[in-house]
Order: sequence, then structure tokens, then C-alpha cells
Amino acid sequence: MRTTRVIDMLEVTEAAARAAGRWIGKGDKKAADAAAVEAMRAAFDRVPIDGEVVIGEGERDEAPMLFIGEKVGGGGEAIDIAVDPLEGTNLTAYAQANSLAVLAFAPGGTLLNAPDTYMWKIAAGPAAADAVHIDASPTENVRNCARALKKPVEDLVVCILDRDRHKDMIAEVRAAGARVRLISDGDVFGAVATSIEGTGIDLYMGAGGAPEGVLAAVAMRCIGGCFMGRFAFRSPEERVRAEHMTKCDLDGVLDMNCLVNTDEAAFVATGVTDGEMLRGVRENHKGWRTHSVLMDGQTGIVRFVDTTGRAGTQKSGMWIG
Ligand code: FBP
Repeated sequence: MRTTRVIDMLEVTEAAARAAGRWIGKGDKKAADAAAVEAMRAAFDRVPIDGEVVIGEGERDEAPMLFIGEKVGGGGEAIDIAVDPLEGTNLTAYAQANSLAVLAFAPGGTLLNAPDTYMWKIAAGPAAADAVHIDASPTENVRNCARALKKPVEDLVVCILDRDRHKDMIAEVRAAGARVRLISDGDVFGAVATSIEGTGIDLYMGAGGAPEGVLAAVAMRCIGGCFMGRFAFRSPEERVRAEHMTKCDLDGVLDMNCLVNTDEAAFVATGVTDGEMLRGVRENHKGWRTHSVLMDGQTGIVRFVDTTGRAGTQKSGMWIG
């Protein structure tokens, strides 16, 4: 995937983040999400691609925009697009850390069409990529990850969504001697943070949305980290839907090749609220400023981009805050 294309896509997540940013702290997660979706959809029209949404806001009858199968872009190269215009709707509505506008893209047919179900996930950065496994126990993963990172288990930080279904996992990680960083939402951040210096997160474990799993897997593939999953269906209907959507073994390990079957994928995220990985949107009557990360799987390059623009224009330009 060409770097120029990655930069085109940056404008798409920036637009979504700015739209969601106007809803930070307003207590209305639906309005924040709708604003991000609308802005992302409009921004795609300016990108010269022939994109197909493989992970989006839901099925055609559930979502007015960015539904699965929707064509986006102004025409050009055929690519698969995975989007989460606002990852962490509650985080935005209640002004909490680490909500993001996210997208990933790859050559047509290479991204898993993940149904809207749950997925058990594990993610670790490049140094521990071969040390962890979705089928290993939390204790084994904690010990092996700490060994690979050459740090005492006591210093290892494991990020886990704060949910009842993770009670046993959390207890086992603590019993193994590691620290747990609980997050209320936003496990794309949780997984990707394992590969970003300075976030303080070494390992991500737990069950969350399957679509978010594919987005995180793209980032981990670009960066050389590990991401593995396993579907966790909540009903027989979800399983049937998955049978129609994917050729993967529904009970097997979802490894990198199944989730993102190419090195030509790319991942782009713009911060909505402030967090350990990205700063949130700043916007006032004078202008705006966003902070994003771009990951290009072909080159392995990760860029952090600080963009400023004058009020009332898409054009960049110094914003005096
Ligand atoms: P939103 O859809 O509100 O943005 O929530 C995102 C999220 O927290 C994901 O990061 C995570 O994968 C999933 O929801 C967890 O789902 P649940 O809240 O049902 O446990």
C-alpha cells in the first residue's frame, strides 16, 4: 500500500475525529458516533480509491452509512476498508481517555469480514510477538511475555476490559504477579498500545468486539507485533451469520494470516480524547489540531502526525490556540 494513500486516509480519520470531538463530554454517545460516521463517509469521497467497506457500522439494513458492502471513494484502486469512525463512544461522551477515529485498508479480499460478535483476543508488541498465545493460560502468557521483554513479572502491565466476563482472568493475572490496567472501553487502543513506546501497556488480553479485533490485527501486522483471536458467539444466529461472512474455521485460532492476509495493509487512527498514545482533538473559533498515527505494513514505518488547520478550511496552517 503506497504511503501517499496512507496520507490520503489520514484526512478521513481526522475529519471523523474532529466531528466527534465536538461531542466530547456532552453525554450523548449516539450523537458523537453519528457525527463521526457522517464526516468519515463524506471524507472518503475525496480519496481516489474504489473501496469496499468490509468492517463498518453494520449490515445494510442496520446502518445508513458505512454499512458492510458499501462502496466508498472517488474511484481508483480496489481496496478493502475496515472502519470504526468512533472507537469508544462512551469515552467520548464522558470525556475519558483514548477514544479514536480508526480505519484500516488492504488489497481487496485480504481482510477478514468479521461479523458483529465477540472475539477473545491477545496482543503483544514485536519483542514479545512469539512469546504469547491465545490458547495459553493467563499465567503462562504473563510469564512468557515478561521473559521476552526482559522485565520482572511484577513490572508487567496487562490491559484488560473491565467486564464481569474477565473476573477470573484479572484475578489470575494479579495472582501471577503482574499489574492490570483496566479500561472501560476501547480495546483497539488496548491492543495497539502494547506496541507503542510510552503507553505503559505490555500485553492485552480479553474478549471484545470482533470487528475491533480485525482493526487491531491490521495495526499489529504493520508494526510486527502479535495478535490472535478466537470467535466467541453469543447466539446461534451470530454463528450462522459468521458462516456466511467468513471462510475461517469458526472454532479455530484466528491467526494473523486469517485476520489480515497481506503485508500491504495499513492502519490509521486519530485521537478524539486525550490518551497515552494520541492527543485528542483541539478545536476553537481560530482553528483545529489533531494527532494521528499512520502504520504502513509494506514499509513497516509508523508515523505520528500532528496536523493543524485554520478555522473554516480543510487547508493546513498554523493554529494559534
Ligand atoms: P463503542 O462501540 O461504544 O465504541 O465501544 C467500543 C468497545 O469498548 C470496543 O473497544 C470493545 O471491543 C467493545 O466495545 C466491547 O464490547 P462490550 O462493551 O459489549 O463488552
